[in-house]
Amino acid sequence: MRVCVIGTGYVGLVTGVCLAHSGHDVICIDNNEEKVKLMKSGQSPIFEPGLSEIMQSCIQNGNIQFSADLAAGVTHGEILFIAVGTPPLPNGESDTRYVEAVARGIGANLNGGYKVIVNKSTVPIGSGDWVRMIVLDGIAERQKSAEEKLPEIANQFDVVSNPEFLREGSAVYDTFNPDRIVLGGNSQQAIGMMKELYAPIVERKLAADQSLPPVPVLVTDLSSAEMIKYAANAFLATKISFINEVANICDRVGADVTQVAKGIGLDSRIGNKFLQAGIGWGGSCFPKDVSALIHTADDYGYEAQLLKSAVSVNERQRLIALEKLQQALKILKGKTVGLLGLTFKPDTDDLRDAPALNLIEQLNRLGAKVKAYDPIISQTGMRHGLSGVLVETDAERLADGCDALVLVTEWQQFNTLDYVKMAQLMNHPVMIDGRNFLNPEAMAKAGFQYVGVGRTA
Ligand code: NAD
Ligand code: UGA
Repeated sequence: MRVCVIGTGYVGLVTGVCLAHSGHDVICIDNNEEKVKLMKSGQSPIFEPGLSEIMQSCIQNGNIQFSADLAAGVTHGEILFIAVGTPPLPNGESDTRYVEAVARGIGANLNGGYKVIVNKSTVPIGSGDWVRMIVLDGIAERQKSAEEKLPEIANQFDVVSNPEFLREGSAVYDTFNPDRIVLGGNSQQAIGMMKELYAPIVERKLAADQSLPPVPVLVTDLSSAEMIKYAANAFLATKISFINEVANICDRVGADVTQVAKGIGLDSRIGNKFLQAGIGWGGSCFPKDVSALIHTADDYGYEAQLLKSAVSVNERQRLIALEKLQQALKILKGKTVGLLGLTFKPDTDDLRDAPALNLIEQLNRLGAKVKAYDPIISQTGMRHGLSGVLVETDAERLADGCDALVLVTEWQQFNTLDYVKMAQLMNHPVMIDGRNFLNPEAMAKAGFQYVGVGRTA
C-alpha cells in the first residue's frame, strides 16, 4: 500500500521504516530539512537498535523515500500517518499545535482519491473529530483561495486513531512484535485499509517468533482508542510509582524490594514487568501523558487523585539519589559526583525528561561538581538539554577524583566496567545504584560502599 508518515521522530521514522520493510511503499515527511538530508543519505537522526540497518535496506530496495514536501507526501499516500510530537504545555495539557499544522496542511493538499488520516501521535481524547474538522478547514481555505473551482474532496477521507505502544530502545522489535494493534474509527472502509496495512505484522511475518498466533487487533471507537493510549501509559507509570513506594518502605524496614518484586510478580494477576524500583520514570511520554490525562479529567470536573499521587511519588523518587548522596557524603558543596548514564533509559539517545537532568540541577544547586559518562551521549557528543555537567569519554575518567558515583541508567555495558580500578581512582568509593542494577556483593568486593534503592546491601 502507499503510505505517508508525517513527522520522523522516534515513532514516525520507526513506523515508516518498519512498514516499508513489511513491503509497503512509504514516504516519510519532516519539516526539518536537516533531518531529511540525513535520512536521504541513509543515516538515522535517532539512535534506535536495528533501525539504521533496516532503513538502509529499504532505501536500497526503493520502498522508502524522505522529503520535506508535505504536498508530495499527501499525493503519494493512501494512508497518511500524523506522527508529530505532542509535548506538554506548562499546565500539563498536551500541546497539539504540530498536529493541527499537519492536519491543516493535509487538508490544503488533498487532491482526490480516498485517504485514511491516522492519528499516530498521542493526542487528547476527542482529537479524532477535531483533526477531521481541521482537515476540512484546510480544504475550505484552499477552495477559497483557488482561482478555479476544485473537485469535491470533503468526503473523501476518514480519520482513524491508531495509538502507538512502542518503547524507545526496542522500538523496531516492538513494532514487529506488538502485544496488540488498536484501531479506533467508525468507517468500515478505513478500518479495512488499516487491517490490510498491518496484515504482515498481524500475521507475524517479521516477528521474532513466527509460530505465535496472530497479533490481536482491537477495533473500537475513536475516543476509546485515544483513551486506551493514555490509560496504558498511566497504568504503567502508576505501577512503577507503586513499586518505588514499596522500595522506600523496604529501605526503612530492612526488606529487599528486588525480592518483593519477584514475590509479587509471580502472581499472574500482578505480572513481573514494570516492577523495577529505581530513581523514577522519565522520558518523553510517561510524564507528559499522565499529566495530560490528569488535565483532561480536571477539564471534565474529575480530580484524578490516584494519578496525581503517582506523579508526586515520582517527583520525590527522582531525588532519591540526592538523599542517599547526602546520607553517604553529608555536605555536597565542593564534592564531585559522577553519573553513570544520562539518557532516561538504556539503548536510546533520548534525554527528554531524563531523571539525570533533575539530579544535575539539584547537585549544582547544592554546590557539587557533576561529571557524567553515558555510552551514547559521550560517543555522539549530543548535548541537547544538558548543562552543568562535564561529559567524560569513559567510565574510568569519570571515576577519577569523584566522591561518589550514581548509576542513573542501566546500560548493559555498566555490568562489565573495571570497578576495582574505578574505586581506586575515587576520593570516596561510594556507589549509589539508582536502578538496583549492580551486584551489591561484587561492588563491596571492588571496594565500594554500595547503596541501592529499597535494597539490603
Ligand atoms: P519527536 O519529537 O521525536 O518527533 C516529531 C517529529 O515531527 C520531528 O522530527 C519534527 O521535526 C517533526 N515535525 C514537527 N512538526 C512537523 C510538521 N508540521 N511537518 C512535518 N514534520 C513535523 O516525537 P516522537 O517521540 O516520535 O513522538 C511523536 C508522537 O508519538 C507523540 O505524540 C508521542 O507522545 C507519541 N509516542 C511516542 C513514543 C516514543 O517512544 N517516543 C511512543 C509512543 C507514542
Ligand atoms: C513507554 C511505554 O512503555 C510504551 O508502551 C509507550 O509507547 C511509550 O512510553 C510512549 O508512549 O512513548 P518508553 O518511555 O520508551 O515507553 O520507555 P519505558 O521502558 O516504558 O520506560 C519509561 C520510564 O520508566 C523510564 O524512565 C524507565 O527507566 C522507567 N521504568 C520502567 C522504571 O523505572 N521501572 C520499570 O520497571 C520500568
